[in-house]
Amino acid sequence: MTAHPSPSQAGLSAVSDSILIVDFGSQVTQLIARRVREAGVYSEIAPFTQAEAAFRRMKPKGIILSGSPASVPDDGSPRAPQALFEAGIPILGICYGQQVMSHQLGGEVRPGHETGEGGEFGRAFLTVTADCALFDGLWDVGDRHQVWMSHGDKVTQFAPGFEIVATSDGAPFAVIADEARKFYGTQFHPEVVHTPDGGKLIANFVRHVCGLTGDWTMAEFRKTKIAEIRAQVGDRRVICGLSGGVDSAVAAVLIHEAIGDQLTCVFVDHGLMRMNEAEQVVTLFRDHYNIPLVHVEAEALFLGGLAGLTDPEAKRKFIGKTFIDVFETEANKVGGADFLAQGTLYPDVIESVSFTGGPSVTIKSHHNVGGLPERMNMQLVEPLRELFKDEVRELGRELGLPDAFVGRHPFPGPGLAIRIPGEVTKERCDILRKADAIYLEEIRNAGLYDAIWQAFAVLLPVKTVGVMGDARTYDNVCALRAVTSTDGMTADVFPYDAGFLTRVATRIVNEVKGINRVVYDYTSKPPGTIEWE
Ligand code: XMP
Repeated sequence: MTAHPSPSQAGLSAVSDSILIVDFGSQVTQLIARRVREAGVYSEIAPFTQAEAAFRRMKPKGIILSGSPASVPDDGSPRAPQALFEAGIPILGICYGQQVMSHQLGGEVRPGHETGEGGEFGRAFLTVTADCALFDGLWDVGDRHQVWMSHGDKVTQFAPGFEIVATSDGAPFAVIADEARKFYGTQFHPEVVHTPDGGKLIANFVRHVCGLTGDWTMAEFRKTKIAEIRAQVGDRRVICGLSGGVDSAVAAVLIHEAIGDQLTCVFVDHGLMRMNEAEQVVTLFRDHYNIPLVHVEAEALFLGGLAGLTDPEAKRKFIGKTFIDVFETEANKVGGADFLAQGTLYPDVIESVSFTGGPSVTIKSHHNVGGLPERMNMQLVEPLRELFKDEVRELGRELGLPDAFVGRHPFPGPGLAIRIPGEVTKERCDILRKADAIYLEEIRNAGLYDAIWQAFAVLLPVKTVGVMGDARTYDNVCALRAVTSTDGMTADVFPYDAGFLTRVATRIVNEVKGINRVVYDYTSKPPGTIEWE
């Protein structure tokens, strides 16, 4: 599933004390890896087709079989290599993983439509019916616990050696265990946050059942990635587009640590950044880290091309294409590179791939340097591909990036252009920058910045009538947005108290010429998106 080499492909020795996660194409397989990391244990994900090779190379202390959109009774559906069941090490099968393990070991799985009971989707409750090593110190017999289910098929006959240790209404075999072989199967998904004890169950499996010590940390991740980057790049050159955001900055600092001045960073400043942000990026990279940085001031080019564009996708496409053009020109000026570094995170990966390889629906064309690698014949270096945003922040701190920078709210590639519905002009950017800066200043003063995933102002293409002094005004409306989220894929509205919003609205109307009304956006995601365009 990962496009870049694993440690051993990169020339490292087998990672003892590790867990092998066999991927059957679930959307949440990376969450399993994340829970294992949270338990302080190293893991690697291998697609089921490569699982046996990965197993022989890694010599893991345990195996986790993922869920899948496939159906075990269907011809041609994925199977785990039989050798894994004969290796004498613990196995945890999750959802499809439980079903495929049961099927391969002599049990029976039937499709939901045949059992006539349908599937179970969403929140469910299970009852613990017997002791199990997975539950040690956590769940007792007779307890009822919330879990998250998402399955049509179910195990209808478990394999020899197994017993039922928890049941739910829709899945009589909610958890099955063969304590002698240390094989466990859960019909529910312990890796998602909607199973509140799920992380602890996975920790129990990797530490208690597999006997791993749990001493793996972000510092280890840093070392592993540095070795991987060195092995991948050798003595060739890497170029990295800095967006001003946390992800590309962390990727760049990590790569710089690995290969030093073989890395050149290019910061295409499109003039659509927040107040003072471009200067901060340049100072941080040039002065603090001494990383070779090309700062391209391209505001006029971007604003010129945006003139007359009002359709959100047209704006996004223009910015994406122009960014690539400018980046390519600058990359050629510094003599080109063999590799393009990107701060791609795991949520970016799942939003853009599907198990079947088919196209996923485009909600917005995300701005990145996607077209460049083919155009310039470059390979990708994406050291953050497995991580979630909060893990990138942790890695950033580990690399010594200042807290204020690492903790910054995410900022979209197309910048303020997608926070100015309608035509983007220099004047409107300046108005928005001022309102946004006041809003963020008040958030920081109130001590709320870190409790919010993302907060920003939007300048609406709507004018309203107001009265200031004794005069009539006819000016723009500014909308404020603030959401909480863990990965940007879903979001809730941040519940400010009225006093705070009143204070911000008053300051913005009083201090920003061009705005005479402020509104607060009360839409969660879904159905809204976080950005307005
Ligand atoms: P939406 O608006 O889709 O945003 O709910 C989800 C998260 O992604 C950010 N975002 C982008 N990030 N390039 C980026 O690098 C983009 O084109 C882009 N569009 C949205 C958005 O700020 C939020 O954090």
